[in-house]
Amino acid sequence: MSTYEQALSSEVFEYISKASKQLGLESYVIGGYVRDFLLQRDSGAKDIDIVAVGSGIELAKKVAKLLPTSPKVQIFKTYGTAMLRFKDLEIEFVGARKESYKENSRNPKVEQGTLQDDQNRRDFTINAMALSLNEADYGKLLDPFNGVEDLKSGIIRTPLDPTITYSDDPLRMMRAIRFATQLNFTIEQRSLDAIIKNTTRIDIITQERIVVELDKILMSGTPSIGFRLLEQTKLLERFLPELTALKGVEEEKGQTHKDNFYHTLQVVDNIAQKTDNLWLLWTALLHDIGKVPTKKFDKKNGWTFHGHEFVGSKMVYKLFRRLKMPLNEKMKYVQKLVLLSSRPVVLAEEVTDSAIRRLIFDAGDIIDDLMTHCEADITTKNPKKRKQYLNNFKLVRQKIKEVEERDSVRNFQPPVTGEIIMKIFGLKPCREVGQLKDAIKEAILEGEIKNDYEEAYQFMLVKAKKLGLEKIE
Ligand code: CTP
Repeated sequence: MSTYEQALSSEVFEYISKASKQLGLESYVIGGYVRDFLLQRDSGAKDIDIVAVGSGIELAKKVAKLLPTSPKVQIFKTYGTAMLRFKDLEIEFVGARKESYKENSRNPKVEQGTLQDDQNRRDFTINAMALSLNEADYGKLLDPFNGVEDLKSGIIRTPLDPTITYSDDPLRMMRAIRFATQLNFTIEQRSLDAIIKNTTRIDIITQERIVVELDKILMSGTPSIGFRLLEQTKLLERFLPELTALKGVEEEKGQTHKDNFYHTLQVVDNIAQKTDNLWLLWTALLHDIGKVPTKKFDKKNGWTFHGHEFVGSKMVYKLFRRLKMPLNEKMKYVQKLVLLSSRPVVLAEEVTDSAIRRLIFDAGDIIDDLMTHCEADITTKNPKKRKQYLNNFKLVRQKIKEVEERDSVRNFQPPVTGEIIMKIFGLKPCREVGQLKDAIKEAILEGEIKNDYEEAYQFMLVKAKKLGLEKIE
């Protein structure tokens, strides 16, 4: 068995081959599946792209008929593609075209082409390699642009003149950077120049498709590779101007502040080493965006960014909305982490039980992620300081654990509820009920009373008296 036949070990390829023969057309496996096989990369995804020299939809229907599972065929008429599932595989069929692949093409009518036409119109040489599913040369690799060489030397190169490939679909500028990040490849200089020249063309791409690429860059192990390239090509400022605004160091009276853009990238890389929680990665990316509008210099304190966490968390909402990202609990999670991002830092300097209780109360279930973020936020090059900061956070973590075990204030539930208060004093919902509830919560957080019913009840009676409230029974 040739190396390439190994790539075709799944029985599904035999069915596709058989179906092609019956229809009298040629078919090939192409794109990411071939690339990842040659890289021996388990991308996790089980997507297989099949190109037919003829109708992809007809081929899909035929394959579905032959398969023992008779799967349903999903047809996307506008794009002339079809998809079916077999076992854990998702198989897409498309007819070979002369024109480029445009997911959002306004002119879906594309001329049928040969395999070579189709390969010409793909994004990168490493994504244009095809394996034959035809009887005559089953398993043969068709690699007209020497994608195998580019895979070996780690180069992102377009099959055609890069200007043509990128103007066919400007999203490919992002894809080039995304693949360079995921695979740690270099983008060929000609390609990089073409991206720099065509930066503004990214504006015609939907925010959703841009975000898909950003997510993949964030999840890629060393996201800074991608963000440096996005910055260098000036793509980044087209969709994340809040980030590029963090760039640069100002000096005033001999005092400077750190470059918050490169600091941010370091924090993102640190987080990427620890977790694949996409929303914690977004938090790292956005945690300092409030520093631009809040930056001030005064003689006494030097550079300050007062309130940048609050301002930043407000900016998160606007940014998510603009990028058409979810405005649900994911956004709220990022907002909350940005808002609280400096709290453990202050605590690390002086840890009191009540401050810890307040932090747990405010953070709730995201307290661990908040600590992970804070640890990643340490980017000092001074090893002594680094050790000291990490140690301080270790103490905070320990203290959180102790306080948690003693007083359960995470997801705080008031031990005496509003209903109980109303019943005892014969009240309708009113300001006093809120005041009493608040006073109980404050007393618990301050450590004046324990978080239990009896103590809270006694405390409430004293407070109520001061407010002139009488028990009714
Ligand atoms: N393709 C392209 N231009 C695009 C998108 C896709 O030429 N803008 C082609 C490439 O040949 C690519 C194939 O379509 O390999 C499949 O695209 P996709 O599934 O998006 O990417 P993969 O290469 O499979 O990689 P990944 O799954 O990592 O996104």
